[in-house]
Parts: sequence; structure tokens; C-alpha cells
Amino acid sequence: MPQPRVTTAMKQPDAEPLAPIPVNPAYPLPGSIARPEYGPGEREALIDEIRQLLREKDAVLVAHYYTDEDLQMIADETGGTVADSLEMARFGNRHPASTLVVAGVRFMGETAKILNPEKRVLMPTLEAECSLDLGCPPEKFIPFCDAHPERTVVVYANTCAAVKARADWVVTSSIAVDVVNHLKDKGEKILWAPDRYLGSYVKRVTGADMLLWQASCIVHERFKASALQNLAERYPDAAILVHPESPEAVIEMADVVGSTTQLIKAAQRLPNQRFIVATDNGIFYKMKQAAPDKVFMEAPSAGEGATCESCAHCPWMAMNHLRNLAEVLRNGDNEIHVPEDIRKQALKSTQRMVDFVAEQR
Ligand code: 13P
Ligand code: SF4
Repeated sequence: MPQPRVTTAMKQPDAEPLAPIPVNPAYPLPGSIARPEYGPGEREALIDEIRQLLREKDAVLVAHYYTDEDLQMIADETGGTVADSLEMARFGNRHPASTLVVAGVRFMGETAKILNPEKRVLMPTLEAECSLDLGCPPEKFIPFCDAHPERTVVVYANTCAAVKARADWVVTSSIAVDVVNHLKDKGEKILWAPDRYLGSYVKRVTGADMLLWQASCIVHERFKASALQNLAERYPDAAILVHPESPEAVIEMADVVGSTTQLIKAAQRLPNQRFIVATDNGIFYKMKQAAPDKVFMEAPSAGEGATCESCAHCPWMAMNHLRNLAEVLRNGDNEIHVPEDIRKQALKSTQRMVDFVAEQR
């Protein structure tokens, strides 16, 4: 059966003279977001084997909150980490293991390699993409930057190494506002890529002069403000937590807007007993650990009568599971390689982010 294709037309960046036209690449989505079905005893056997292989291979598991809860559980139990994309990037530097196994999407493995060239970086699959990364191909992005030499180029971590190499700064959602405020205070004008929703959120909050690339996250852009409004009316006691990759109308309804870690902390900190959460539902595993007595509900990701491709779960994150994690540890396949010239260039903008965070804390 042919794979569904993303057909949403990508709008042009805010009109400015010289802007070349970024064309939305059509790309296939991976198949199912369902967890694999395991045979009797298979899950337990795989978990035992993975624990043992991590020890034997001097490897540590670095998992994102959106991955399968078995992977998050193993990362926690074996001294790895479950984190947002910023902390995933920072973790490898601090940990002595010679191999980082990154469970997430490809840009996360590449970021780990950019920052840790001496380490082997493996991923359960090299096919886990991100629509933001795919929506910002370097062959379109680099000429776009070249056409706006007066702007400081700030890119979201959800980009490939070649795009990071063209950027002045890399940011994640947890520090985007702080970095842009810092640049604005220095009088800099910004070219932002690739997420248009996060970009326009940062622009509204900071008032900075930002030219926005127009890619989007296929998971977060599906959250629907009108259906969220209906749900919020049924549960007026619920606090609404929103990841800033969501559309503006959804962000406007939020009690807290933040990165995945910031949303988990808010669930713990706020007095509410009930939360409506507009981000990937993989986050519920950690939210429930952080606030076991509270109730978490998915924000609606399809309006009345609409269909939903992602259903609040990233289809690429869902490609990580116990079978391919065990397989990569057995065989050492799926190693991330970044050409050294690109890596060195991408290190400048990525290290700038890491140093900025270290100075802030
Ligand atoms: P965080 O940095 O908040 O973990 O976000 C990464 C991501 O891909 C969200 O969709
Ligand atoms: Fe990319 Fe969205 Fe998946 Fe995050 S949830 S990895 S932004 S497609």
C-alpha cells in the first residue's frame, strides 16, 4: 500500500525582497504509531538482554520523553537519562560511557555526535525523521540565509547537521526565548528556522525582529483550539500545558507553555489535580511519575469530523522499540556519522547553545 504523504502546503517565509522560495518537500510518513506486539516472555527477555548489553558494551541509553515507556524505564534504571532535547544533548558530554545509544529521532543522534566526536553514537533506527528537519533541507536553507546576510541565523535543534553548520546559534524550545532576548538586546535581527509556530511564539514573547522559515511539526500542529476549548469547558479545574510547536490559538489557551521538561515540572508544581496536555502522549509516562496523584488528559488533535494522522504521538519516535534497541546493541549497526567539516562547523552553533545554558545556570 502506498505510504501517505504530507501534503500540507508550506507557506512562504514572511515576505522580504531577496527571499528565495523554500519548497515544501513531500515526504513519506512511517507506518504505524502502535507499540509492537511481543510474544510471550519476549518483552522481559529483551529488557534483560538490553540491560546486559549496555553494561558489556560500555554504552548508555539517552532517551527522549516521547519514546516507548519501556525504553524510558531502561534508561532510568541503567544510569542513562530520559530528557528533553537540550538535556539529551548535554548528557553525553557529562557521561563517561564510550557509546551513546540515542533513542529518539535522527537530529538527536546527530547533535550527540556533533558534541561528542570521540564517542560512538548509535540509534535503534536511522529512519526516525522529524518533519521540522525534513521541512528545512540545507540546499534550500543555505541560499535563504545567504540572501539575508544582515540576520543572525538561529535554528531549532530539530535540524540536520548541515543546517546547524550554516547557523550562528542552535536553540531548543527550553531556551529559545532566552537566546532570542539576548540577541535582541544586542540589536540583532534574526532569521529563524524551521518551526513557524515556535518561531512566531518566540517573536510574540520577545518582540524581536524575526524572519520565519515555515516548517511545522506534524504532531503539534494537529492540536485543535476549538476542541480544546470544549474540553476545557467540561473540566474547568484543569490546567492546560502546551508545547510551543503548537498553533497560536492553542498556545493562547495555555496556562503553561514550555519544553517537555518544563511541562513535566509544571505538572508537578501547579496545584491543579487535572491537566490537559498538548504535546506527544509519550510524556505521560514521566508526568505520572512526577505527579502520581494527578490526572492527565490528551489535548484533542482532531476537530469535529477531522481525521488525525499522528494522534498526539510522533510516528518517528514510535519507530524506537525494544527489538531494534537490542539489535543495535548486539550488532553496533546504525552508527551516526557526520562529515568532519560539517561537524566542526555545526559544533560552533551547537556549543554556543551549551555554553549559554551553562552560563545561565
Ligand atoms: P523538547 O526539546 O521540548 O523535548 O522538544 C523536542 C521535540 O521534538 C518536540 O516535538
Ligand atoms: Fe519532530 Fe514533531 Fe516528532 Fe518532535 S514530535 S520529533 S518536532 S515530528
